[in-house]
Amino acid sequence: MNIKYLGHSAFEISTGSAKILIDPFLVMAQNYNCKGVSEIFVTHAHSDHLGNAVKISKETGAVVNAIFELANYCGKMGANANGIGLGSWQKRAWGKFIAVPAQHSSSIDGIYGGNPCGYVFEIEGKYIYHAGDTSLSQEMKTIGELYSPSVAMLPIGGVYTMDVEHSVIASKWLNAQTIIPMHYNTFPAISADTKLFEEKIREIGKNAEVMNIYQDFQI
Ligand code: NI
Ligand code: MN
Repeated sequence: MNIKYLGHSAFEISTGSAKILIDPFLVMAQNYNCKGVSEIFVTHAHSDHLGNAVKISKETGAVVNAIFELANYCGKMGANANGIGLGSWQKRAWGKFIAVPAQHSSSIDGIYGGNPCGYVFEIEGKYIYHAGDTSLSQEMKTIGELYSPSVAMLPIGGVYTMDVEHSVIASKWLNAQTIIPMHYNTFPAISADTKLFEEKIREIGKNAEVMNIYQDFQI
């Protein structure tokens, strides 16, 4: 499987059989070609995560998976939407996924977006965790205990989410092997020191994968 970084908290995961997008806010990857995307996962309703989800769904027919209230909003806007709740696995031809709690908020244009979430995917026998926007949370210990993700995408920019220090603690709690930082340096308020992040992750014996836009990471 291949994980491609599309800036901010946006990623493409491609497997042998499918191409999925997470939080497709593509201002930093405007030349990204959405052709062939079959599913989109949105962690919460804030515009820097919902991004182009509705537009891409209309263009490609891709299903937008989101928490019930946000999926209803996307459906009203013309997307092919699938409403989900926290905490139960849904199976697909490419693997399965579960929405897990995130400590944050979720609304768009004053419309309540339901609970914010993160996602755990099981693809090709490996667990991948995308935290969405969240603070450090005890939930991460549970994810670590149950899944020990091969890869965890964690916010490090602070202000609205975890910062570098808390994301390093989260990496330990998650028992993750590789940590890809996200949600930093998109705008000045969330600037983060990626060198410090890499150093601290190395100190706890894990692999930090700081990715450039469009960069691929094979697992
Ligand atoms: Ni947010
Ligand atoms: Mn955000």
